[in-house]
Amino acid sequence: MITGRKFVLVKPFEGFPRAENVEIVEEVVPPLKDGEYLCRTVFQSVDPYQRVFPMEIGETIVGYQVAMIIDSKTPKFPIGKYIIGYYGWKTHHIYNETSISGLNLHPLLLPDEYEDISVQDFIGVMGIPGLSAYVGLFKICQPRPGETIVISAAAGAVGNLVGQMAKIQGCTVLGVVGSDHKGQWIKNVLGFDGYINYKEGNLPTELKELAPNGVDMYFDNVGGEISSQIIKQMTMFGRIAVCGGISTYNDVEDSKASTIQADIVRNSLKMIGFRIPDYEDEFLDIMKIIAPSVREGKLKAMATITKGFERTFQAFCAMLRGENIGKAIVQL
Ligand SMILES: NC(=O)c1ccc[n+]([C@@H]2O[C@H](COP(=O)([O-])OP(=O)(O)OC[C@H]3O[C@@H](n4cnc5c(N)ncnc54)[C@H](OP(=O)(O)O)[C@@H]3O)[C@@H](O)[C@H]2O)c1
Repeated sequence: MITGRKFVLVKPFEGFPRAENVEIVEEVVPPLKDGEYLCRTVFQSVDPYQRVFPMEIGETIVGYQVAMIIDSKTPKFPIGKYIIGYYGWKTHHIYNETSISGLNLHPLLLPDEYEDISVQDFIGVMGIPGLSAYVGLFKICQPRPGETIVISAAAGAVGNLVGQMAKIQGCTVLGVVGSDHKGQWIKNVLGFDGYINYKEGNLPTELKELAPNGVDMYFDNVGGEISSQIIKQMTMFGRIAVCGGISTYNDVEDSKASTIQADIVRNSLKMIGFRIPDYEDEFLDIMKIIAPSVREGKLKAMATITKGFERTFQAFCAMLRGENIGKAIVQL
């Protein structure tokens, strides 16, 4: 008999998350029925959206993971294979072969062609962050060589990959980050052309120096005033991919930022938001495009790893505080 564990919401989040918001609950894993398979989480993702995703009291905290199939009553999902699951912060989960889980996504069986790529990468560069970086950059920003892109939360899971992909495209890549340590990393290790530390520096002034001809594309991970300041320095026909707005996720009251409508009109800017689940049908095709750069080491997969399922909530808070470089992951 296997006893699994899961994190459930016991008190709604208000402001920055606190230990009293969640609780670890044990549950006995029942025997499998025909058509079902049992997954054991190997890498659990902690993500900004978990702070703002609508969840009921008693519900398992939403989330995705890389999991190993450890028992199966369906040939479609054999023992020993891995999936990207979306079943929340849980150690074990039973799917049936037609399940749709948490985020309205089907569990994704990792194709055999990727056996040479580390399983851990499917929570980062080959998983949701890599797919999000690709969609926002190529489908929305549509980069051309020589153009300048600014990325906020640039040392984080999605941001660092956007920057690396844009460098491969021949763009000038600037990152906005919360510390010089992160800035040095994106510049010296990933090859970004420059960075701005939004906590220490003067963003508008430094951006003018780094991008004297203006910003052609902005990959927005943070929203709020940082984004308003960047959007005010965009060029004609600039493109903005709105991926997220973490700067406001812990706010108790609606936050305010400088208005940008006049800038959008004056420069004919295009600003498009996206949700990665809406691109589910394209996941396997995008993975095929990303994989060669991962294999060749052109896309570096950086992660901040916390060990132990019971530390998932701490890893989540650390990520919200900006303590991660690359993808924040919990290893079970
Ligand atoms: N649209 C989609 O489908 C989709 C998919 C994935 C992610 N997202 C969104 O993309 C964004 C990045 O997600 P991620 O998974 O890559 O997370 P991440 O960047 O790895 O981690 C979050 C980072 O946000 C920064 N941050 C925290 N508070 C901030 C604040 N007040 N102002 C500015 N920056 C702040 C921190 O870096 P610093 O130290 O630099 O502050 C922190 O490391 C989030 O907004 C997320 O919701 C959207």
